[in-house]
Amino acid sequence: MRLPVVFSALLAQAGALLAAFLAFKASLFFGLLLPLWGLALLQSVTAVVLSGLFGLPPWWFVIQGLFVPLLLLVSRFNLPPHFFLGGFLLLWLIFFSNAKERVPLYLSNETSCTALASLLPGHRPFRFLDLGSGLGGLLARLAEQKPDGQFYGVESAPLPFLVSWLRLKKKSNVHVRYGSFWNENLEAYDVVYAFLSPEPMAELWQKAKHEMRAGSLFVSNSFAVPDCSPARTVQLNDARHTRLLIWEM
Ligand SMILES: C[S@@+](CC[C@H](N)C(=O)[O-])C[C@H]1O[C@@H](n2cnc3c(N)ncnc32)[C@H](O)[C@@H]1O
Repeated sequence: MRLPVVFSALLAQAGALLAAFLAFKASLFFGLLLPLWGLALLQSVTAVVLSGLFGLPPWWFVIQGLFVPLLLLVSRFNLPPHFFLGGFLLLWLIFFSNAKERVPLYLSNETSCTALASLLPGHRPFRFLDLGSGLGGLLARLAEQKPDGQFYGVESAPLPFLVSWLRLKKKSNVHVRYGSFWNENLEAYDVVYAFLSPEPMAELWQKAKHEMRAGSLFVSNSFAVPDCSPARTVQLNDARHTRLLIWEM
């Protein structure tokens, strides 16, 4: 059985702390006193080794290895507790949906916006929906390029939603809503755009198939739907090697 990633990470940290504690006790027994940074190094290396044994993805090794040494370093600055509470709240407000949805905040680039605009109807009304609209930048750019369209966004993280609402409230053809896209009926839209992560794609595709009208477009930036090839793929010439995957419903 494979443990959830966060649980494996916590277990690796706990095991590594135990190893450092036992090394400390053993050093006392032999009349030695291991320096704190020596213990931190031991804890760090053990955390990385255990993370590997628990099958965590490689990018976790950096987090696991630096966690305790950085805790020790930061504790030297005697920062007030509000500093940490403030940092936690800020991250929570930005990455609110991460723990449940496993979709972080990163933004569609200019190249993706231009390619997406070329897929939208010209000179006739249409409705476009951005699932997880982030800071609203994509909607703002598309609304300028395609004034005949009505652009909608739904975002579940409080701070990105607030930023997008403030920047878009004066644009008459852009509408952002706070909430989860799982509660949004996709039937009303001609084009639905998703730039999310691999995690929700299978379930999202089921929702799109049930709700979207015949003739409408479902576009995913970068992330494939398992076992369902897109009708078209647009390969973009940017640093991320972005692909727009397009399904005609
Ligand atoms: C990768 S960002 C994309 C932002 C924007 N669409 C863009 O392309 O620039 C994904 C966004 O989806 C939001 N998100 C994740 N799950 C969501 C959900 N269930 N409902 C609404 N938004 C969600 C995240 O908070 C994040 O802002």
